Amino acid sequence: KNIVVLVSGSGTNLQRIIDTTENGEIPNAKVTLVVADRECFGLERARNHHIDNILIPRGKNFSAELSNIIPENTDLIVLAGFLSILKPEFCQNWNGKIINIHPALLPKFGGKGMWGMNVHNAVIEAKEKISGASVHFVTSGIDEGEIILQQSFEIDENDTPDSLAQKVHRVEYEIFPKAINKVLGSR
Ligand code: GRF
Repeated sequence: KNIVVLVSGSGTNLQRIIDTTENGEIPNAKVTLVVADRECFGLERARNHHIDNILIPRGKNFSAELSNIIPENTDLIVLAGFLSILKPEFCQNWNGKIINIHPALLPKFGGKGMWGMNVHNAVIEAKEKISGASVHFVTSGIDEGEIILQQSFEIDENDTPDSLAQKVHRVEYEIFPKAINKVLGSR
């Protein structure tokens, strides 16, 4: 199975996907291409593993350019800390084959503006008792696609947005490979 990963940041989730395709936790799959919408450490990780990689600067032509370079035989497009919004046509063309990871328990704390530390700040502000991570299908509605897998943990009274971010990342590393297996296996 051929996986394309889209990143905008440090790419620790990308690293986890690369590692688990290489060690067989995600069997019979490989990351064939990494696409970034800005210069970021995620690209460096791809280079370190000799994975094809390309930077398409974010902007209005991003989705069109992405369409042109994603190989036809791609089985799954994974958004792993990817910050651009994909055009509805792109989402429709690849319907059921694009997934995203979100650092909260959707449908709570999702939608426009809910990314990165904004999410963890909002969760602390709302005095939530639990948080977690969600992997979901990508549709044209932001963070609205069907949820594939979620995992939660209890928030400690001493937790800060930063400590939450760390705990959420740990959950993400667990559920992302499982969610990918679920999607690839069910086809
Ligand atoms: C993750 O928390 C993900 O849920 C969010 O952005 C973060 C990316 O982290 N969308 P990394 O680049 O994988 O380290």
